[in-house]
Amino acid sequence: MGILKLFRGKAAPQAPAIDRPVPRHIAVIMDGNGRWAKKRGMPRSYGHAVGAETFRTIATYCKDIGVQYFTVYAFSTENWKRPKEEVDALMDLFRKYLKEAAETMFQRGVAVRVLGDLTPLPADIRAQIAEVDEIADSLGPDAATASLCINYGGRDEIKNAVRALAREVQAGTVSPEDITEDSIAAHLYTAHMPDPDLIIRPSGEIRTSNFLLWQSAYSEYYFTEVLWPDFSTADMDRAIDDFNRRARRFGGV
Ligand code: IPE
Ligand code: IPE
Ligand code: MG
Repeated sequence: MGILKLFRGKAAPQAPAIDRPVPRHIAVIMDGNGRWAKKRGMPRSYGHAVGAETFRTIATYCKDIGVQYFTVYAFSTENWKRPKEEVDALMDLFRKYLKEAAETMFQRGVAVRVLGDLTPLPADIRAQIAEVDEIADSLGPDAATASLCINYGGRDEIKNAVRALAREVQAGTVSPEDITEDSIAAHLYTAHMPDPDLIIRPSGEIRTSNFLLWQSAYSEYYFTEVLWPDFSTADMDRAIDDFNRRARRFGGV
């Protein structure tokens, strides 16, 4: 509330003109932080801290070149299996970035959203997310959106959508025949976003690791050996150029 009052009235900066088409929605599996740190003899948490800086740089770049939706995989439903110390370090980074988001979103004109099952997150982080959500709502539906997927799992998301639809059927408000691809999509965390056009995975792994399973049906994938903390704006340019050379057919000819 207080933050909203503070920033209301400040104009969002204009995006610079761009000289080539950019995907409307880019998603990134931010992988390789641990290996990056290990190579330097540092703890994994250091890799996460540097990876978070890369997130800031790349999210800003995407906004500047006119990408409307930028979505990153920050913590999966499976990442709770990691040592408590590492999970705690990641939670602290989320605290830091959500605080910064709440302070700067309005001037930057970027709506920050958190996607995932938030119920197992610490209460203070859930409160931060609620605040960030409120500011994002105030920016309106046309604002550029940066989404952080936290405790996100593609299968978990689909399971939750199925449960919600089952409840509607049970209540008699929907019949099974009314369930369509669109109504399923409307029950996902990404309900108000287009599907990702381009999904980037750094660090040399060639798998989805449960990211945006439903939404990626016709996404273009780009894999690179670069570890996420080293991922630069030039790497993003390479991924976009590669994307622009592809022919998307969506099953047609
Ligand atoms: C990605 O980096 C960040 C998270 C999964 C939270 P990793 O921590 O998976 O790094 P590697 O894959 O072990 O190098
Ligand atoms: C995927 O990376 C999850 C995130 C980047 C948040 P992981 O490092 O958890 O994936 P796997 O275990 O290598 O498949
Ligand atoms: Mg990994």
